[in-house]
Amino acid sequence: MKSSFEDLAIFGGVPAFNDKLHVGRPNIGDRQRLLERINDILDRRWLTNSGPYVQEFEQRIADLVGAKHCIAMCNGTVALEIAIRAMRLTGEVIVPSFTFIATAHALQWQEITPVFCDINPHTHNIDPCQVERLITPRTTGIIGVHVWGRGCDVDALTDITRRRNLKLLFDAAHAFGCSYKGRMIGNFGDAEIFSFHATKFFNTFEGGAVVTNNDELATTIRLMKNFGFAGYDNVIYVGTNGKMSEVSAVMGLTGLESLDEFIAINYRNYDQYRRELEGLPGVHFLTYNETERYNYQYIVLEIDRAATRISRDHLVQILHAENILARRYFYPGCHRMEPYRSHFPHAGLLLPETERVAERVLSLPTGTAIGPEEIRAICNIIRLALQNVEAVNMRLESSWASREPLRGLAEDM
Ligand SMILES: Cc1ncc(COP(=O)(O)O)c(C=O)c1O
Repeated sequence: MKSSFEDLAIFGGVPAFNDKLHVGRPNIGDRQRLLERINDILDRRWLTNSGPYVQEFEQRIADLVGAKHCIAMCNGTVALEIAIRAMRLTGEVIVPSFTFIATAHALQWQEITPVFCDINPHTHNIDPCQVERLITPRTTGIIGVHVWGRGCDVDALTDITRRRNLKLLFDAAHAFGCSYKGRMIGNFGDAEIFSFHATKFFNTFEGGAVVTNNDELATTIRLMKNFGFAGYDNVIYVGTNGKMSEVSAVMGLTGLESLDEFIAINYRNYDQYRRELEGLPGVHFLTYNETERYNYQYIVLEIDRAATRISRDHLVQILHAENILARRYFYPGCHRMEPYRSHFPHAGLLLPETERVAERVLSLPTGTAIGPEEIRAICNIIRLALQNVEAVNMRLESSWASREPLRGLAEDM
Protein backbone atom coordinates (compact mmCIF):
# COMPACT_ATOMS: atom_id res chain seq x y z
CA MET A 1 0.00 0.00 0.00
CA LYS A 2 1.42 3.39 -0.94
CA SER A 3 1.96 5.71 1.97
CA SER A 4 3.21 8.92 0.36
CA PHE A 5 2.27 10.82 -2.77
CA GLU A 6 5.86 10.37 -3.93
CA ASP A 7 5.11 6.64 -4.27
CA LEU A 8 2.53 7.38 -6.96
CA ALA A 9 3.55 6.09 -10.39
CA ILE A 10 3.30 9.60 -11.86
CA PHE A 11 6.22 10.52 -9.57
CA GLY A 12 8.22 7.47 -10.65
CA GLY A 13 6.85 4.98 -8.09
CA VAL A 14 6.17 1.37 -9.04
CA PRO A 15 2.62 1.05 -10.48
CA ALA A 16 0.19 -0.37 -7.93
CA PHE A 17 -0.74 -3.21 -10.31
CA ASN A 18 1.43 -5.27 -12.63
CA ASP A 19 -1.49 -6.14 -14.88
CA LYS A 20 -3.97 -3.64 -16.20
CA LEU A 21 -7.21 -3.50 -14.21
CA HIS A 22 -10.06 -2.99 -16.65
CA VAL A 23 -13.40 -1.47 -15.77
CA GLY A 24 -15.42 -4.30 -17.29
CA ARG A 25 -13.45 -7.52 -17.12
CA PRO A 26 -15.78 -10.39 -18.12
CA ASN A 27 -17.52 -12.51 -15.51
CA ILE A 28 -17.32 -16.20 -16.36
CA GLY A 29 -19.54 -18.85 -14.79
CA ASP A 30 -18.74 -22.51 -14.17
CA ARG A 31 -16.08 -23.34 -16.77
CA GLN A 32 -16.64 -27.10 -16.60
CA ARG A 33 -20.35 -26.71 -17.24
CA LEU A 34 -19.63 -24.34 -20.14
CA LEU A 35 -17.21 -26.77 -21.76
CA GLU A 36 -19.68 -29.65 -21.38
CA ARG A 37 -22.30 -27.61 -23.17
CA ILE A 38 -19.88 -26.60 -25.92
CA ASN A 39 -19.02 -30.26 -26.41
CA ASP A 40 -22.69 -30.99 -26.70
CA ILE A 41 -23.05 -28.34 -29.42
CA LEU A 42 -20.16 -29.86 -31.33
CA ASP A 43 -21.59 -33.38 -31.02
CA ARG A 44 -24.95 -32.19 -32.22
CA ARG A 45 -23.44 -30.01 -35.01
CA TRP A 46 -26.19 -27.48 -34.58
CA LEU A 47 -24.12 -24.32 -34.27
CA THR A 48 -26.60 -21.55 -35.04
CA ASN A 49 -30.02 -20.81 -36.64
CA SER A 50 -32.17 -20.83 -33.53
CA GLY A 51 -30.74 -24.03 -32.07
CA PRO A 52 -31.98 -25.67 -28.86
CA TYR A 53 -29.63 -23.67 -26.61
CA VAL A 54 -30.71 -20.34 -28.10
CA GLN A 55 -34.33 -21.34 -27.59
CA GLU A 56 -33.64 -22.32 -23.98
CA PHE A 57 -31.71 -19.09 -23.44
CA GLU A 58 -34.58 -16.98 -24.79
CA GLN A 59 -37.02 -18.74 -22.49
CA ARG A 60 -34.78 -18.26 -19.47
CA ILE A 61 -34.34 -14.53 -20.15
CA ALA A 62 -38.06 -14.02 -20.76
CA ASP A 63 -38.86 -15.87 -17.48
CA LEU A 64 -36.28 -13.93 -15.51
CA VAL A 65 -37.55 -10.59 -16.76
CA GLY A 66 -41.20 -11.65 -16.73
CA ALA A 67 -41.71 -10.52 -20.32
CA LYS A 68 -43.69 -12.43 -22.95
CA HIS A 69 -41.00 -12.52 -25.63
CA CYS A 70 -37.23 -12.54 -25.77
CA ILE A 71 -35.53 -12.59 -29.16
CA ALA A 72 -31.81 -13.27 -28.76
CA MET A 73 -29.44 -11.37 -31.06
CA CYS A 74 -25.79 -11.33 -32.05
CA ASN A 75 -25.23 -8.07 -30.12
CA GLY A 76 -27.03 -5.15 -28.51
CA THR A 77 -26.47 -2.77 -31.42
CA VAL A 78 -28.20 -5.06 -33.92
CA ALA A 79 -30.96 -5.60 -31.35
CA LEU A 80 -31.43 -1.80 -31.29
CA GLU A 81 -31.33 -1.51 -35.09
CA ILE A 82 -33.88 -4.25 -35.58
CA ALA A 83 -36.20 -2.99 -32.83
CA ILE A 84 -36.07 0.53 -34.32
CA ARG A 85 -36.94 -0.83 -37.75
CA ALA A 86 -39.64 -3.20 -36.56
CA MET A 87 -41.26 -0.35 -34.61
CA ARG A 88 -41.24 1.70 -37.84
CA LEU A 89 -39.37 4.61 -36.35
CA THR A 90 -38.53 7.18 -39.02
CA GLY A 91 -37.76 10.90 -39.29
CA GLU A 92 -36.56 12.06 -35.87
CA VAL A 93 -36.18 10.14 -32.63
CA ILE A 94 -35.37 11.77 -29.28
CA VAL A 95 -32.44 10.19 -27.41
CA PRO A 96 -30.06 11.26 -24.67
CA SER A 97 -26.58 12.25 -25.80
CA PHE A 98 -25.18 10.86 -22.55
CA THR A 99 -25.09 7.25 -23.73
CA PHE A 100 -22.87 4.85 -25.60
CA ILE A 101 -22.57 5.86 -29.24
CA ALA A 102 -24.48 2.75 -30.43
CA THR A 103 -27.78 4.28 -29.27
CA ALA A 104 -27.40 7.18 -31.72
CA HIS A 105 -25.70 5.15 -34.46
CA ALA A 106 -28.53 2.58 -34.54
CA LEU A 107 -30.78 5.43 -35.69
CA GLN A 108 -28.36 7.22 -37.98
CA TRP A 109 -27.50 3.89 -39.65
CA GLN A 110 -31.11 3.84 -40.86
CA GLU A 111 -31.12 7.51 -41.82
CA ILE A 112 -33.21 8.47 -38.82
CA THR A 113 -32.09 11.67 -37.10
CA PRO A 114 -31.19 11.32 -33.42
CA VAL A 115 -32.38 14.46 -31.63
CA PHE A 116 -30.28 14.80 -28.51
CA CYS A 117 -32.01 15.54 -25.24
CA ASP A 118 -30.38 16.74 -22.03
CA ILE A 119 -30.17 14.64 -18.87
CA ASN A 120 -31.18 15.07 -15.28
CA PRO A 121 -27.83 15.73 -13.57
CA HIS A 122 -28.83 13.71 -10.50
CA THR A 123 -29.86 10.55 -12.33
CA HIS A 124 -27.69 10.90 -15.49
CA ASN A 125 -30.80 9.76 -17.40
CA ILE A 126 -32.83 11.54 -20.09
CA ASP A 127 -34.78 14.45 -18.59
CA PRO A 128 -38.48 14.07 -19.50
CA CYS A 129 -39.01 17.80 -18.84
CA GLN A 130 -36.73 18.55 -21.80
CA VAL A 131 -38.27 15.98 -24.14
CA GLU A 132 -41.50 17.68 -25.07
CA ARG A 133 -39.95 20.83 -26.51
CA LEU A 134 -37.89 18.66 -28.89
CA ILE A 135 -40.97 17.03 -30.46
CA THR A 136 -41.63 18.15 -34.04
CA PRO A 137 -44.00 16.85 -36.74
CA ARG A 138 -41.14 14.56 -37.85
CA THR A 139 -40.73 12.91 -34.42
CA THR A 140 -41.82 9.27 -34.32
CA GLY A 141 -40.42 8.05 -31.03
CA ILE A 142 -38.22 8.27 -27.97
CA ILE A 143 -35.40 6.01 -26.86
CA GLY A 144 -34.81 6.12 -23.13
CA VAL A 145 -31.53 4.68 -21.84
CA HIS A 146 -31.27 3.17 -18.35
CA VAL A 147 -27.78 4.54 -17.73
CA TRP A 148 -25.70 2.55 -15.18
CA GLY A 149 -28.68 0.16 -14.84
CA ARG A 150 -30.72 2.79 -12.99
CA GLY A 151 -34.14 2.99 -14.64
CA CYS A 152 -34.85 6.24 -16.44
CA ASP A 153 -38.15 8.01 -15.79
CA VAL A 154 -40.28 5.36 -17.49
CA ASP A 155 -43.58 6.75 -16.18
CA ALA A 156 -43.00 10.27 -17.51
CA LEU A 157 -41.76 9.00 -20.88
CA THR A 158 -44.72 6.62 -21.17
CA ASP A 159 -47.08 9.50 -20.46
CA ILE A 160 -45.46 11.72 -23.13
CA THR A 161 -45.45 9.01 -25.78
CA ARG A 162 -49.11 8.14 -25.09
CA ARG A 163 -50.23 11.76 -25.25
CA ARG A 164 -48.19 12.56 -28.35
CA ASN A 165 -48.79 9.26 -30.13
CA LEU A 166 -45.13 8.28 -30.29
CA LYS A 167 -43.30 4.96 -29.97
CA LEU A 168 -41.16 4.20 -26.92
CA LEU A 169 -38.05 2.02 -26.94
CA PHE A 170 -35.63 1.51 -24.06
CA ASP A 171 -31.94 0.88 -24.41
CA ALA A 172 -31.49 -1.36 -21.39
CA ALA A 173 -27.95 -2.41 -22.36
CA HIS A 174 -26.79 -1.68 -18.77
CA ALA A 175 -29.91 -2.84 -17.02
CA PHE A 176 -30.21 -6.61 -17.25
CA GLY A 177 -31.30 -7.87 -13.82
CA CYS A 178 -32.47 -4.41 -12.70
CA SER A 179 -35.92 -3.18 -11.72
CA TYR A 180 -37.91 0.03 -12.01
CA LYS A 181 -40.54 0.65 -9.32
CA GLY A 182 -40.34 -3.02 -8.37
CA ARG A 183 -40.95 -4.38 -11.88
CA MET A 184 -38.13 -5.91 -13.89
CA ILE A 185 -36.68 -3.77 -16.66
CA GLY A 186 -37.59 -5.42 -19.95
CA ASN A 187 -41.32 -4.84 -19.52
CA PHE A 188 -41.57 -1.19 -20.45
CA GLY A 189 -42.36 0.77 -23.59
CA ASP A 190 -42.98 -1.03 -26.88
CA ALA A 191 -39.75 -2.98 -26.39
CA GLU A 192 -36.44 -2.93 -24.56
CA ILE A 193 -33.04 -4.15 -25.64
CA PHE A 194 -30.22 -5.73 -23.62
CA SER A 195 -26.54 -6.05 -24.42
CA PHE A 196 -24.69 -9.18 -23.37
CA HIS A 197 -21.30 -7.90 -24.51
CA ALA A 198 -18.24 -9.23 -22.70
CA THR A 199 -17.91 -5.98 -20.69
CA LYS A 200 -21.44 -6.22 -19.31
CA PHE A 201 -21.93 -7.91 -15.94
CA PHE A 202 -23.57 -10.85 -17.67
CA ASN A 203 -22.22 -11.82 -21.09
CA THR A 204 -22.60 -14.21 -24.00
CA PHE A 205 -19.17 -13.20 -25.44
CA GLU A 206 -21.04 -10.91 -27.88
CA GLY A 207 -24.82 -10.85 -27.69
CA GLY A 208 -27.99 -9.01 -27.02
CA ALA A 209 -31.76 -9.37 -27.04
CA VAL A 210 -35.00 -7.58 -27.65
CA VAL A 211 -37.66 -8.18 -25.01
CA THR A 212 -41.26 -7.16 -25.51
CA ASN A 213 -44.80 -7.94 -24.42
CA ASN A 214 -46.14 -7.09 -27.88
CA ASP A 215 -46.90 -10.29 -29.88
CA GLU A 216 -47.00 -8.63 -33.28
CA LEU A 217 -43.76 -6.76 -32.73
CA ALA A 218 -42.08 -9.95 -31.51
CA THR A 219 -43.12 -11.80 -34.69
CA THR A 220 -41.75 -9.02 -36.90
CA ILE A 221 -38.48 -8.88 -34.97
CA ARG A 222 -38.05 -12.66 -35.21
CA LEU A 223 -38.50 -12.48 -38.98
CA MET A 224 -36.18 -9.51 -39.35
CA LYS A 225 -33.31 -11.06 -37.42
CA ASN A 226 -33.40 -14.08 -39.77
CA PHE A 227 -33.45 -12.43 -43.23
CA GLY A 228 -37.27 -12.40 -43.21
CA PHE A 229 -37.51 -16.22 -43.49
CA ALA A 230 -40.89 -17.59 -42.38
CA GLY A 231 -39.90 -21.17 -43.27
CA TYR A 232 -37.87 -22.99 -45.90
CA ASP A 233 -37.57 -20.94 -49.11
CA ASN A 234 -40.18 -18.49 -47.88
CA VAL A 235 -39.09 -14.90 -47.29
CA ILE A 236 -41.95 -12.60 -46.33
CA TYR A 237 -40.11 -9.57 -45.01
CA VAL A 238 -36.94 -7.56 -45.49
CA GLY A 239 -34.45 -8.73 -42.91
CA THR A 240 -30.87 -9.04 -41.82
CA ASN A 241 -28.72 -11.47 -39.88
CA GLY A 242 -29.09 -10.77 -36.17
CA LYS A 243 -28.92 -14.36 -34.94
CA MET A 244 -27.23 -15.43 -31.74
CA SER A 245 -25.03 -18.53 -32.07
CA GLU A 246 -25.33 -21.64 -29.91
CA VAL A 247 -21.94 -21.06 -28.32
CA SER A 248 -23.05 -17.61 -27.18
CA ALA A 249 -26.27 -19.07 -25.81
CA VAL A 250 -24.42 -21.63 -23.67
CA MET A 251 -22.11 -18.93 -22.34
CA GLY A 252 -25.32 -17.14 -21.35
CA LEU A 253 -27.02 -20.20 -19.86
CA THR A 254 -23.91 -20.95 -17.82
CA GLY A 255 -23.59 -17.32 -16.71
CA LEU A 256 -27.24 -17.26 -15.66
CA GLU A 257 -26.48 -20.04 -13.17
CA SER A 258 -24.00 -17.69 -11.46
CA LEU A 259 -26.01 -14.51 -11.84
CA ASP A 260 -26.76 -14.12 -8.12
CA GLU A 261 -23.10 -14.60 -7.32
CA PHE A 262 -22.02 -11.95 -9.89
CA ILE A 263 -24.50 -9.50 -8.39
CA ALA A 264 -23.42 -10.29 -4.83
CA ILE A 265 -19.76 -9.66 -5.71
CA ASN A 266 -20.61 -6.42 -7.51
CA TYR A 267 -22.65 -5.32 -4.50
CA ARG A 268 -19.81 -6.17 -2.12
CA ASN A 269 -17.39 -4.14 -4.30
CA TYR A 270 -19.82 -1.22 -4.53
CA ASP A 271 -20.32 -1.21 -0.77
CA GLN A 272 -16.58 -1.23 -0.11
CA TYR A 273 -15.90 1.59 -2.59
CA ARG A 274 -18.70 3.61 -1.00
CA ARG A 275 -17.25 3.17 2.48
CA GLU A 276 -13.65 3.79 1.45
CA LEU A 277 -14.37 6.93 -0.54
CA GLU A 278 -16.86 8.37 1.94
CA GLY A 279 -16.20 11.91 3.02
CA LEU A 280 -13.74 12.86 0.30
CA PRO A 281 -14.62 16.50 -0.49
CA GLY A 282 -15.73 17.01 -4.09
CA VAL A 283 -16.08 13.31 -4.84
CA HIS A 284 -19.69 12.33 -5.40
CA PHE A 285 -20.27 8.60 -5.33
CA LEU A 286 -23.15 7.39 -7.49
CA THR A 287 -25.49 5.35 -5.31
CA TYR A 288 -28.21 2.85 -6.03
CA ASN A 289 -31.63 3.06 -4.42
CA GLU A 290 -31.73 0.04 -2.10
CA THR A 291 -35.44 -0.64 -2.74
CA GLU A 292 -34.78 -1.64 -6.37
CA ARG A 293 -32.86 -4.53 -7.92
CA TYR A 294 -29.56 -3.69 -9.60
CA ASN A 295 -26.59 -5.48 -11.08
CA TYR A 296 -24.20 -2.92 -9.48
CA GLN A 297 -21.92 -3.14 -12.51
CA TYR A 298 -20.98 0.53 -12.56
CA ILE A 299 -18.90 2.23 -9.90
CA VAL A 300 -19.23 5.86 -10.87
CA LEU A 301 -17.68 8.95 -9.32
CA GLU A 302 -18.32 12.56 -10.17
CA ILE A 303 -15.36 14.80 -9.60
CA ASP A 304 -16.28 18.34 -8.69
CA ARG A 305 -13.13 20.20 -9.62
CA ALA A 306 -14.04 23.33 -7.68
CA ALA A 307 -13.95 21.28 -4.48
CA THR A 308 -11.21 18.74 -5.26
CA ARG A 309 -8.98 21.28 -7.09
CA ILE A 310 -7.95 18.44 -9.37
CA SER A 311 -9.60 17.70 -12.69
CA ARG A 312 -11.29 14.43 -13.51
CA ASP A 313 -8.81 14.00 -16.37
CA HIS A 314 -5.79 14.40 -14.07
CA LEU A 315 -7.27 11.79 -11.76
CA VAL A 316 -7.73 9.44 -14.71
CA GLN A 317 -4.07 10.00 -15.67
CA ILE A 318 -2.95 9.18 -12.13
CA LEU A 319 -4.99 5.97 -12.09
CA HIS A 320 -3.86 4.89 -15.55
CA ALA A 321 -0.23 5.31 -14.50
CA GLU A 322 -1.01 2.77 -11.74
CA ASN A 323 -2.51 0.39 -14.35
CA ILE A 324 -6.03 1.13 -13.11
CA LEU A 325 -7.89 1.79 -16.35
CA ALA A 326 -10.63 4.06 -15.05
CA ARG A 327 -12.90 5.27 -17.87
CA ARG A 328 -14.61 8.56 -18.66
CA TYR A 329 -17.95 7.06 -19.76
CA PHE A 330 -19.66 8.70 -21.79
CA TYR A 331 -17.22 11.46 -22.54
CA PRO A 332 -17.58 13.67 -24.55
CA GLY A 333 -21.25 12.80 -25.29
CA CYS A 334 -22.60 11.55 -28.62
CA HIS A 335 -23.27 15.10 -29.85
CA ARG A 336 -19.55 15.83 -29.74
CA MET A 337 -18.63 12.79 -31.86
CA GLU A 338 -18.93 12.35 -35.61
CA PRO A 339 -21.09 12.55 -37.57
CA TYR A 340 -23.28 14.33 -35.01
CA ARG A 341 -20.68 16.98 -34.19
CA SER A 342 -20.72 18.12 -37.82
CA HIS A 343 -24.48 17.70 -38.25
CA PHE A 344 -25.37 19.64 -35.08
CA PRO A 345 -22.40 21.88 -34.21
CA HIS A 346 -24.46 23.87 -31.70
CA ALA A 347 -26.18 20.90 -30.00
CA GLY A 348 -24.17 21.55 -26.83
CA LEU A 349 -26.16 24.75 -26.22
CA LEU A 350 -29.20 22.62 -25.43
CA LEU A 351 -27.22 20.04 -23.46
CA PRO A 352 -25.57 21.90 -20.57
CA GLU A 353 -26.11 19.10 -18.03
CA THR A 354 -24.83 16.45 -20.42
CA GLU A 355 -21.66 18.46 -20.99
CA ARG A 356 -21.17 19.12 -17.29
CA VAL A 357 -21.66 15.49 -16.27
CA ALA A 358 -19.46 14.21 -19.12
CA GLU A 359 -16.62 16.39 -17.78
CA ARG A 360 -16.97 15.01 -14.25
CA VAL A 361 -17.71 11.31 -14.52
CA LEU A 362 -15.23 8.57 -13.80
CA SER A 363 -15.90 4.83 -13.80
CA LEU A 364 -13.83 2.41 -11.68
CA PRO A 365 -13.07 -1.32 -12.03
CA THR A 366 -15.38 -3.88 -10.46
CA GLY A 367 -16.65 -7.43 -11.13
CA THR A 368 -15.43 -10.86 -10.12
CA ALA A 369 -11.90 -10.09 -11.31
CA ILE A 370 -11.21 -7.76 -8.38
CA GLY A 371 -11.50 -8.09 -4.62
CA PRO A 372 -11.17 -6.13 -1.37
CA GLU A 373 -7.38 -5.74 -1.62
CA GLU A 374 -7.52 -4.20 -5.08
CA ILE A 375 -10.33 -1.86 -4.09
CA ARG A 376 -8.44 -0.75 -0.99
CA ALA A 377 -5.37 0.02 -3.15
CA ILE A 378 -7.45 1.95 -5.72
CA CYS A 379 -9.16 4.05 -3.05
CA ASN A 380 -5.83 4.69 -1.34
CA ILE A 381 -4.43 6.11 -4.58
CA ILE A 382 -7.45 8.37 -5.04
CA ARG A 383 -7.05 9.62 -1.46
CA LEU A 384 -3.31 10.20 -1.84
CA ALA A 385 -3.91 12.19 -5.02
CA LEU A 386 -6.68 14.30 -3.50
CA GLN A 387 -4.72 14.98 -0.33
CA ASN A 388 -1.72 16.24 -2.33
CA VAL A 389 -3.33 18.17 -5.13
CA GLU A 390 -0.69 20.91 -5.43
CA ALA A 391 2.19 18.48 -5.95
CA VAL A 392 0.13 16.24 -8.21
CA ASN A 393 -1.13 19.07 -10.41
CA MET A 394 2.37 20.52 -10.68
CA ARG A 395 3.76 17.14 -11.72
CA LEU A 396 1.07 16.54 -14.32
CA GLU A 397 1.24 20.05 -15.73
CA SER A 398 5.04 20.02 -15.98
CA SER A 399 5.03 16.63 -17.70
CA TRP A 400 2.42 17.93 -20.10
CA ALA A 401 4.43 21.11 -20.79
CA SER A 402 7.60 19.12 -21.46
CA ARG A 403 5.66 16.42 -23.35
CA GLU A 404 7.27 13.88 -21.07
CA PRO A 405 5.23 10.69 -21.37
CA LEU A 406 3.74 9.47 -18.11
CA ARG A 407 4.16 5.81 -17.39
CA GLY A 408 1.14 3.60 -17.88
CA LEU A 409 -1.03 6.07 -19.76
CA ALA A 410 -3.46 3.99 -21.74
CA GLU A 411 -4.05 4.72 -25.38
CA ASP A 412 -7.83 4.74 -24.99
CA MET A 413 -8.03 7.75 -22.67
C1 LIG B 1 -26.00 2.06 -23.55
C2 LIG B 1 -25.53 1.06 -24.58
N1 LIG B 1 -26.26 0.86 -25.68
C3 LIG B 1 -25.91 -0.03 -26.61
C4 LIG B 1 -24.76 -0.78 -26.49
C5 LIG B 1 -24.37 -1.70 -27.60
O1 LIG B 1 -24.32 -3.03 -27.21
P1 LIG B 1 -23.34 -4.07 -27.94
O2 LIG B 1 -21.95 -3.72 -27.55
O3 LIG B 1 -23.78 -5.40 -27.42
O4 LIG B 1 -23.57 -3.94 -29.41
C6 LIG B 1 -23.96 -0.60 -25.34
C7 LIG B 1 -22.76 -1.38 -25.10
O5 LIG B 1 -21.83 -1.65 -25.38
C8 LIG B 1 -24.34 0.36 -24.38
O6 LIG B 1 -23.58 0.58 -23.28
